[in-house]
Amino acid sequence: MHKKIRKAVFPVAGMGTRFLPATKANPKEMLPVVDKPLIQYAAEEAVAAGIDVLVFVTGRNKRSIPDHFDKAYELETELEERGKEKMLEIVRNILPPHVTCAYIRQAEALGLGHAVGCARPVVGDEPFAVILADDLIDGEGGGSALKQMVDVYEEYGCSILGVEDVPKDETHKYGVVSPERVTDRLWDVKGIVEKPAPADAPSNMAVVGRYILTPRIFDLIENTGKGAGGEIQLTDAISDLLGEQRVLAQRFQGTRYDCGSKLGYLQATVEYALKHPELADDFRGYLQNDVCKRILG
Ligand code: G1P
Repeated sequence: MHKKIRKAVFPVAGMGTRFLPATKANPKEMLPVVDKPLIQYAAEEAVAAGIDVLVFVTGRNKRSIPDHFDKAYELETELEERGKEKMLEIVRNILPPHVTCAYIRQAEALGLGHAVGCARPVVGDEPFAVILADDLIDGEGGGSALKQMVDVYEEYGCSILGVEDVPKDETHKYGVVSPERVTDRLWDVKGIVEKPAPADAPSNMAVVGRYILTPRIFDLIENTGKGAGGEIQLTDAISDLLGEQRVLAQRFQGTRYDCGSKLGYLQATVEYALKHPELADDFRGYLQNDVCKRILG
């Protein structure tokens, strides 16, 4: 039996420059898709994968994240007094009661590798997950993307990277792996490089914001210098890990939306609205009767 994955790390200290001015005073992870902030989708994905400790690595302007997962006494009292039972339930059940949140402040935004390294005192010597909340993944088949990865971890007991194929001209946005096929959905990672130009990319298989990592990564992050963009990259530490341990790439079942980009965010909003129990019918009607007619004439 491999050690259970109990903890997930959410690096949320980034500046969100691609979404200014919306992210000037608010974290990008608090942007809502329909009615839930991105970070809540990410937390729910972790909980659905059996994780019960959520470790947020935060920075400046991120106070609304702990507030979101905290009790909101005033709001609850007010909703109670007004008899708004349904709203009260939503506000009270952001996370199930068995889940614990821990917050670590990353004083300087030195890169994703550095952010993950900041979680070491809380994660300790056990394997853990990393979720980047701006990659929103609507899991299919075997449940949420992370749940599918945890299932594979339970079989193989090694680090696993969530991957998907991206267009060749977009490799410069991602960590890109050099894969060797194991099964239809699994590859051995033979190499990994952060944000390669298309001509230098070893493949078009890119890491998309989901990782299961063994704790050895923490030692390696400590010895990782500045890489692409002058940042301490998680990808570089994973590249070192490859020399010591097996790392798998898993093509999960589901659709990923890059909610760090405006287009991806809009696509997610449309798709999630079309699935929303209260909105779906009206919204579909609006798209069909108003938007399509206007566009198609
Ligand atoms: C980060 C990682 C990159 C990964 C990407 C997924 O990049 O450094 O390896 O492919 O997330 O979204 P960022 O998007 O923070 O530039």
